[in-house]
Amino acid sequence: MILVTGATGNIGSALLAQLHAHDVGPLRALTRDAAQAVFPEGVEAVEGDFAEPASLKPALDGVRSLFLLSRLGPDAGVLEVARQAGVEHVVLVSSITVQTHPRLGPAGENLAVERLLKASGMAWTILRPTQFASNTLMWAASIRGHETVRAPYADIALPTIHPADIASVARVALTEPGHQGHTYALTGPEPVSARQQVEAVAAALGREVPFAEVSRQEAYAGMVAVFGAEAADAVLDVTGGDVNDELLMVRDTVAQVTGAPGRPFGQWASENADAFR
Ligand SMILES: NC(=O)c1ccc[n+]([C@@H]2O[C@H](COP(=O)([O-])OP(=O)(O)OC[C@H]3O[C@@H](n4cnc5c(N)ncnc54)[C@H](OP(=O)(O)O)[C@@H]3O)[C@@H](O)[C@H]2O)c1
Repeated sequence: MILVTGATGNIGSALLAQLHAHDVGPLRALTRDAAQAVFPEGVEAVEGDFAEPASLKPALDGVRSLFLLSRLGPDAGVLEVARQAGVEHVVLVSSITVQTHPRLGPAGENLAVERLLKASGMAWTILRPTQFASNTLMWAASIRGHETVRAPYADIALPTIHPADIASVARVALTEPGHQGHTYALTGPEPVSARQQVEAVAAALGREVPFAEVSRQEAYAGMVAVFGAEAADAVLDVTGGDVNDELLMVRDTVAQVTGAPGRPFGQWASENADAFR
């Protein structure tokens, strides 16, 4: 039995679809609200909340392989409940910032979760993705409203990853031998800037989408109330304010693990155009 957490999210929904298509055996999907969730036929929906690790016990019953998003609750408690349930292998979504920006608070928290998992006694595979193509959805309301998209660091191009590529690596790690004890830094196949992302969405929509670069100060002012000061600064650093060679590097890990090239940003924009209409 495989349990997919974050099953209604960007990675988890793609992972469930891929596991289902590959007919890998019994699948279970975690959500906090099963009445709202739609999963592939035959997938067992289970409720649980990372905030209350004990609430995950029914979902973990009989599970041997666990796909886990980090930092959505007390990770030590979540891992301990998984270990007690008899989980043998955990595929963990961490973040590339562990190696690109170890000085940042969120990166330190991800590294701490990786260490907890390695010390847990369960087998592990750690995925460290770079920024997701789906982050572009933060502009969806503006684009739907025919407003100007405003973003800082307009021309800094990062190798944004399609969440389905993270899912593909997770599927292989969960179902094929040879991936336990590995840490995979994951990027998309090409660098893409904020300006180019908006151009790709515009092309998918078949109309112009106005774009304006804003200062870090202006972007920060819009983010701090939502994320808090530390997280807002961290996001601004890793999306352009403090780039380094590790962050800019295009990696072929997706292709190496899955045998298929990474999906370009334009593909994500085409697949998700309706969210911007
Ligand atoms: N975005 C990036 O650029 C980036 C980069 C590196 C790493 N990451 C990591 O990627 C993960 C996000 O992945 P994603 O984009 O696929 O997710 P997402 O689309 O943001 O969806 C979040 C998922 O997590 C579930 N969830 C949230 N809080 C929960 C809780 N308290 N208990 C149980 N489930 C909960 C939600 O399920 P329900 O609402 O159905 O309960 C939903 O399926 C995070 O761990 C983040 O740190 C993101």
